[in-house]
Amino acid sequence: MKRQTIIGAILAIGIVGIGFAFWMMWRPAIAPVNHPQSADREALDRGRRVVEAGDCAVCHTRPGGAYLAGGLPLVTPFGTLFTTNITPDPESGIGQWSLDAFERAMREGVARDGHFLYPAFPYVHYRKMSAADIADAYTFLMSVDPVNYTAPDNHMVFPMNFRPLVSFWNLLFLHGDPLEPLPDRSAQWNRGRYLVEGPGHCSSCHSPLNVIGGEKSSELFNGAIVDGWTAPALRGLADGPHPWNEAQLVAYLTGEVAEGHGGAAGPMLPVSLSIAQLPAEDAHAIARYILDLKKTSTDEPSAPRAPAAAPSAQALLGASLFEGACASCHGSGAPMRTLESRPALAQTSAVMADSPRNLIQTVLQGIPMSTAASSHYMPGFAQVLDDTHLAAIAVYLRNEGAATRPWTDLDKTLKSIRAQEQ
Ligand code: HEC
Ligand code: HEC
Ligand code: HEC
Repeated sequence: MKRQTIIGAILAIGIVGIGFAFWMMWRPAIAPVNHPQSADREALDRGRRVVEAGDCAVCHTRPGGAYLAGGLPLVTPFGTLFTTNITPDPESGIGQWSLDAFERAMREGVARDGHFLYPAFPYVHYRKMSAADIADAYTFLMSVDPVNYTAPDNHMVFPMNFRPLVSFWNLLFLHGDPLEPLPDRSAQWNRGRYLVEGPGHCSSCHSPLNVIGGEKSSELFNGAIVDGWTAPALRGLADGPHPWNEAQLVAYLTGEVAEGHGGAAGPMLPVSLSIAQLPAEDAHAIARYILDLKKTSTDEPSAPRAPAAAPSAQALLGASLFEGACASCHGSGAPMRTLESRPALAQTSAVMADSPRNLIQTVLQGIPMSTAASSHYMPGFAQVLDDTHLAAIAVYLRNEGAATRPWTDLDKTLKSIRAQEQ
């Protein structure tokens, strides 16, 4: 081949490549519409439930801010971004979005004007929702009070501040069609799968992420760290040393205290309060489906050690601190225990877990007052207990719950969580 021909061929390939890249990274705008409103009460009710099932308000409402008006900061390894206003305000919200534009955002992560949205918005999961649910959610969103509010600018690090790059991320992680029921499974199991994998986007917190923030497909539901908390593995919940049954899970998932396990705290609390708004069958369906998730990893917890013959000085200090600071609520004679038949702390997931992370987080942050039962409140102890005291309480509780498996990473975990507090 002549030199010119080769250069010509390379140039042609280059141009096609650049053209392809531009095509990949470009999406058209969808024409604006006038804020459509529907009077179909049933569609509005269905839509409200879809919006609860999808936790839209958990992310799109900032503390003290108007419902769905956005502005909540989300801290990611690639910078901080703010949720947007999804009220029907025509200027600052989605009031000019047609259903087509909304559906494209939910399934492909592209805004009405054509810009790519960051995958912190869990469209990889919403993509699996039915067209009917997306349409109902749209009808409901168009009915809420329009609020004029624009979230602060994002602070994404280079190169992720260049949105078109998200198109390459999508190439890797955005696939799959709306979920179809599996014919060999019950309607309840299928409903649970739909809620968990579609709107509930449970695996986005409960699965380990790879370095570019995609869920590791081979490790779905194997547990991960989210905002400094452990989102435990959701596999094998029905077996193991401290098994869950359906009734306990339903209670947990709907913001109540599960017999023998305790209640949701941290990032799981708002999720459970959303599920509590759904019909009871939905919570049961979610529970059934996750009880069916089998373990895929064969990691066994570290081999048990013989318990110490006598409690250490640290555990004794912990016991007396517990009496002073915690026993009024968690002690065996406390009204919370006797009247509401709550589990001893030693039986809760926080104390039984392989990592002391959620115990530390719960004690530091407490459990905020919420729409759950008012007795579900616990004060935070971040200002009250120093690290020595907190570690002593943790050692004492772990001794009570799992004496043969002491935490080896207690001090390290405590330090790293305190460092993040600053
Ligand atoms: C885990 C947090 C999270 C949840 C849950 C969530 N979103 Fe979002 N959403 C975001 C973030 C962050 C953005 C902004 C992304 C960006 O700027 O690239 C966003 C953007 C959007 C947009 C684009 C709006 C615009 O003006 O560009 C729409 C529409 C949207 N979300 C709808 C929803 C709906 C409907 C639900 C519930 C079914 C939902 N979101 C749940 C985080 C979330
Ligand atoms: C925003 C992140 C997030 C989302 C989304 C999320 N979870 Fe969680 N989940 C957590 C965290 C964190 C914990 C630990 C809370 C605690 O210890 O109090 C948790 C705890 C749990 C537990 C208790 C497990 C145990 O062993 O104690 C169950 C069950 C659970 N989640 C189920 C679900 C289901 C089902 C969904 C989807 C409908 C879901 N989660 C969505 C973060 C999340
Ligand atoms: C004013 C009452 C109150 C006090 C004081 C209190 N707690 Fe709590 N705590 C609660 C409530 C309510 C819950 C949520 C219900 C549940 O999980 O049983 C809770 C939950 C917890 C959990 C999570 C259990 C789970 O479900 O996984 C831990 C761990 C915990 N408390 C530890 C402590 C420790 C340690 C102290 C003392 C430093 C303390 N609490 C003091 C009321 C209290």
